[in-house]
Amino acid sequence: MERLVRALTADVIDVIYETDYDDNTGRAMLNRFFDWLQFGWGAKAYGDDTSFSHRLLESLNFWTILEGTHLLTLMLFFGSILLVDLRLLGLTFRELPISTVERRLLPGTIVALVVVLATGGLLFFAEPARYWHNLMFRAKLVVLVLAFANIAVLHGLIERNKADWDSAARPPVKARWSGAVSLASWVLVMATGRLIAYNWFECGKAQPDWVNASQDCPNSPKGALSADGKPVVAVRQ
Ligand code: HEM
Repeated sequence: MERLVRALTADVIDVIYETDYDDNTGRAMLNRFFDWLQFGWGAKAYGDDTSFSHRLLESLNFWTILEGTHLLTLMLFFGSILLVDLRLLGLTFRELPISTVERRLLPGTIVALVVVLATGGLLFFAEPARYWHNLMFRAKLVVLVLAFANIAVLHGLIERNKADWDSAARPPVKARWSGAVSLASWVLVMATGRLIAYNWFECGKAQPDWVNASQDCPNSPKGALSADGKPVVAVRQ
């Protein structure tokens, strides 16, 4: 096991950090890592040049089951967090203390979140280089960070004096803001998640500079074309 981990780590380091690469910035190393994850890792394992990632993508049912689970568990996740957020906004279950609503619902939310994150990670593993250069995937990651930061602020700061307003039908303005930010950010995570599947901004298509830049298309496997169809030169990696 130790040898396997060592070999794997050495392999990954070779791929992402090499003295003869011109560009060893974090961005370039991440690009090389996701390229290797999609095309390189496991490609030699069975002599058919098919990486582990590609095996998952081409699996008969596994990918579909993963996406189905991602989506179905998401309903439990969003359904339960929606009720907590509406209570924080003072719109539902106004006669129940907030701690009661949270105690009843949040265990389900957490279980669902763990499953959604795990299946999301595996879906990403099926085509890491493509998703990494997908505008909607990037937007989804940014909104996910916002959503988690909001959770941290709610539980770490805003709810510190919750005992004072636990039973209030209309919680204080900070708590209502947190409920609103939570709702907006989870709706955006779902919307951007849904939009990942469309190829409107796919790298390799002729498109505006800001689109190519925001997805780092010049360094993607499909390259970049400017709006007038001219190739955009990649930084050598
Ligand atoms: C609570 C967090 C998350 C929510 C609410 C969410 C939501 C969604 C939604 C609504 C879809 C569209 C499903 C469909 O159209 O069938 C989706 C797809 C996807 N999600 Fe998530 N997701 C979450 C976390 C993650 C994470 C952490 C990752 C990866 C790091 C991820 C990666 C993906 C991928 C790769 C797809 C498939 C896109 C495709 O159709 O090719 N998700 N997600």
